[in-house]
Amino acid sequence: MTLEPGAQGATPDATPSDAMARIIDAALARHDGWLPFDQFMALALYAPGAGYYAHGSRKFGHLPGSGSDFVTAPELSPLFGQTLAVQVQEALAHSGTDEVWEFGAGSGALAEQLLGALEDGQGGGVARYTIVDLSGALRERQRERLAPFGDKVRWVSELPQRIEGVVVGNEVLDAMPVKLLHRVKGVWHERGVVRAGHDARGGGRAADGALGWEDRPTDLRPPVDIGGPHDYLTEIHPQARAWVATLAERLARGAAFLIDYGFPESEYYHPQRHMGTVMCHQAHRSDSNPLVAVGDKDITAHVDFTGIALAAQDAGLTVLGYTSQARFLLNCGLGPRMDAAPLAERALAARLVHEHEMGEFFKVLGLAAGEPWEPVGFAHGDRSHTL
Ligand SMILES: C[S@@+](CC[C@H](N)C(=O)[O-])C[C@H]1O[C@@H](n2cnc3c(N)ncnc32)[C@H](O)[C@@H]1O
Repeated sequence: MTLEPGAQGATPDATPSDAMARIIDAALARHDGWLPFDQFMALALYAPGAGYYAHGSRKFGHLPGSGSDFVTAPELSPLFGQTLAVQVQEALAHSGTDEVWEFGAGSGALAEQLLGALEDGQGGGVARYTIVDLSGALRERQRERLAPFGDKVRWVSELPQRIEGVVVGNEVLDAMPVKLLHRVKGVWHERGVVRAGHDARGGGRAADGALGWEDRPTDLRPPVDIGGPHDYLTEIHPQARAWVATLAERLARGAAFLIDYGFPESEYYHPQRHMGTVMCHQAHRSDSNPLVAVGDKDITAHVDFTGIALAAQDAGLTVLGYTSQARFLLNCGLGPRMDAAPLAERALAARLVHEHEMGEFFKVLGLAAGEPWEPVGFAHGDRSHTL
């Protein structure tokens, strides 16, 4: 996701909604008052009815003031999906499959763009487009938007044992809960969420419902040693790694293209990146405090692409390539598409590739079942060697 220029700032202070506060209280009670951050993040985003992705707020859109919170590439410009379709079509043809699987389909914008482009002569269409999303609220929006494509589109809430086809996921990995690790005076701790104060009778929630942090010593470690003696806050991504391992085990034929913001391990765990990457997004503003306005804003962490690539490889997939979003889209022919687009559309699409917007910050990782091959998206500027 990206923000409008100048939109960095704190969200207004707020305590969780009543429903969310009750859910967090119950979870804290089950965990003796200390909730590991990944479990807190899972509730804040996905708790039925109250989590950010479980209720009906608008979320995606590129206009501040429209009730949306952030913009993603397919929301910014249809040229994103139309260009990605070139890669999807090539991967379908290469693997001899005719199904697309999209994880975390948001408003359905990318599905609409891909389906439209694949039907419009980029290879004769797909037999089936399957959406896997944790959010029931978003599924309803997707159903409405994708109605013109009829039965071709289906939704599943669990992965089948065997997948054949091309998998896409835009900004899905960054929405998966992370664990927070905090090195304090040389000792590693796991960071959890507690009530900031207990009421006098004990057991109750602090009067204002405020939440706070508590670090506890842990045997967990980042995947690489962090140089220096300084205090250091970071994340590890067991859930994203487990997800990609499951995908790898089930992808019997085909390829996967995962697009998100993040870095290779050496950059992710650079000694200078000592504040971690957790960010919240609401009304096109970002802040770094997930403990306020819980359920009303998105919580994300950058992706450790080395960890994702290793988890995929360990589970049997081949890394096809890794590069910036700009390089990937230009390799897939975004340039001529932009030249042919009306001026206003061209300006929005330029943000997909601009170095200071999504172009460099976002990366694409390509994975395949079976032998390596050379996808068009990584034809120039493949950076797999940096993983
Ligand atoms: C930041 S949104 C991105 C939406 C959309 N892809 C876009 O680019 O506009 C993250 C999406 O990922 C979904 N999600 C998170 N974890 C998931 C998982 N394990 N499986 C499927 N969807 C997931 C969320 O429900 C949400 O729809």
